[in-house]
Amino acid sequence: MIIKTSDINTFLEAVNDRSHVSGYTHDFYNYPARFSPLFAREAIKTFTKPEDLVIDPFMGGGTTLVEANLAKRNAIGFDISSLAYFISKVKTTPLSSGEISFIEKWTDKSIKKLNCQFNSYRPEIWIDKGYQRNLSNKSTWPIRKLMEQFINEIESSGATIKIRHFLRCALLKTGQWALDSTKEIPSAQLFRYKLLEIINQMCAGAEDYSSMVKKHENEINIIPINKPSVEISRFKKLKHFDAPKLVLTSPPYPGVHVLYHRWQIHGRRETPAPFWIADNLDGHGLTHYAMGGRNQKGLTNYFQNIEDTFNAIAKVCNSETLIVQMLAFSEPEWQLPRYLEAMEVAGFQEKLINESRIWREVPNRKWYTQKKGNTPSSKEVVLFHKLTS
Ligand SMILES: C[S@@+](CC[C@H](N)C(=O)[O-])C[C@H]1O[C@@H](n2cnc3c(N)ncnc32)[C@H](O)[C@@H]1O
Repeated sequence: MIIKTSDINTFLEAVNDRSHVSGYTHDFYNYPARFSPLFAREAIKTFTKPEDLVIDPFMGGGTTLVEANLAKRNAIGFDISSLAYFISKVKTTPLSSGEISFIEKWTDKSIKKLNCQFNSYRPEIWIDKGYQRNLSNKSTWPIRKLMEQFINEIESSGATIKIRHFLRCALLKTGQWALDSTKEIPSAQLFRYKLLEIINQMCAGAEDYSSMVKKHENEINIIPINKPSVEISRFKKLKHFDAPKLVLTSPPYPGVHVLYHRWQIHGRRETPAPFWIADNLDGHGLTHYAMGGRNQKGLTNYFQNIEDTFNAIAKVCNSETLIVQMLAFSEPEWQLPRYLEAMEVAGFQEKLINESRIWREVPNRKWYTQKKGNTPSSKEVVLFHKLTS
């Protein structure tokens, strides 16, 4: 045993913490299967020192990057999804008080102009490519229209790209609240109130985040990248850093279906609208973001991808680097050993805590496995690895 329980008690408590931790920029979007910020915070505090480098090769909504910056650690995150990149970038970009007050004033004025009875500018290119799929039915068209009008307001505001992205992120969060898996689509009026409320909350979060990170005496670099993590060893900026002290991540789960890239209208019909709102092209199916499908061939691809990716990660680590991963499996009895085998072939050795693994129950997770009911994926495991000596 190389990791002593006495050294990591607070981290172990954070693994099982059920409280909803928000604050700072964490609530800018509810990224599916995201970490609890507390888990990321305690992992970073326990296993690294200020100015160390933390890498998250599957950064999703950027929880690791936000927490690394707050704790004065450098961080690099990779994600294959342009939506994940967009969200992580907005969440980790500080705003000045001048920028925040511009947003507040602009919002008060612009939200009043939104009206679903008025014509809106139709984004034909996005519509032709299918990004507004399922947004024009009886209950969704008023929301779609307000979103079109708000995007038009943002783009004609003359604001910097940083501010425009912040506002698009607010619209993304409001769109998710209104449309994704909701039983009843809210009225246009309620949508406007909610948009205002979300922008105000995000401004408060951005203010707290920005004032915390402004206090750093030395420069801290937070770098989100929109690339598959298998390309990590070719990433030139890594040369400016020492090897990472911590790789903290949560890869897609094998056999577990999480919709990272779509919203589900009325819990059924999918829309790729998040990419339109974030102004990013998508064009990929679920298996692209999940590293492979749920059938046998898809799972074979998944484990090959994990092996290749961790092989690339091994090239940028040294003997001190600790890999901490949160994972779930649709069929843990064979997938966990197979996952560990892929890690071993990639050059990593598992480290146990008191000769056992840490499992946690996951309440209220929105994901689907091949089987219905209480599947094993409602349990997550935390794995520790180091380079094989
Ligand atoms: C479980 S989520 C990560 C959530 C993240 N921990 C958070 O707190 O938001 C897994 C992420 O892996 C990304 N992903 C899938 N295949 C990838 C690849 N080959 N390289 C990089 N990222 C990938 C998906 O797009 C998804 O955002």
